[in-house]
Amino acid sequence: MEEESSSTSIEVDFDIKFKMMLIGDSDVGKTSLLKKYCDNEFSQSYISTIGIDFQIKNITIDNKKLQIQIWDTTGQERYQVLAKNYFNSSDGFVIVYDITKRESFDNVNNWIEQIYEMAPNYAKSILFGNKNDLKEHRKVKVSEGKTLAKKYNIKFFETSAKDGINIKEGFESLIREILGDIASIKSARKETISLRDKKHKKKEKEEKKEPCC
Ligand code: GTP
Repeated sequence: MEEESSSTSIEVDFDIKFKMMLIGDSDVGKTSLLKKYCDNEFSQSYISTIGIDFQIKNITIDNKKLQIQIWDTTGQERYQVLAKNYFNSSDGFVIVYDITKRESFDNVNNWIEQIYEMAPNYAKSILFGNKNDLKEHRKVKVSEGKTLAKKYNIKFFETSAKDGINIKEGFESLIREILGDIASIKSARKETISLRDKKHKKKEKEEKKEPCC
């Protein structure tokens, strides 16, 4: 895969465009993973994401130019209502837990439930067990991450945003899965649009038919 660029400005030169979202508890490293993947940067300081933010990643894969919007949500509960509004337009989800925080792993089930509830049924997901540079503080075994991912039939990577472990591999694995399904995604979208159109036209007709006062 050939890398091109990443930026926060929207580029228009692409063949395929899709959206991905990073979800998971607060402090697990969602913003750090995004920064590492898009800008190859890492910062030790922790500034919690306020609401929702996104970055654009432009890459070329199999001679196709892709523009990927990667949405970074906060794990903080008070902003989650806002983030949930973006679930239904996402083609892919990176679910993140922190290998040093058991609770963030236990909560993966809740995050996956939210995907089932709100995301399009064609959306793909992947599980990241982040901060694997902090092995001496590990509270979740690699095998537990693997087993959980297997339960939901999704891929699993242990990552480190700090050391750049499995960042490119993880993100690109999800991108490839989405790409593999892109035809069905597009037709599902068309279906939704045409269904909406039909409903809209039917409503218009009914309104026209209504007798005047
Ligand atoms: P919210 O925005 O509150 O949801 O947090 P977040 O999930 O986006 O976490 P963020 O990326 O802000 O990282 C939280 C803290 O963990 C920061 O201090 C990061 O420097 C640190 N961190 C993130 N990833 C890693 C990692 O792979 N290894 C280590 N050692 N620290 C990490």
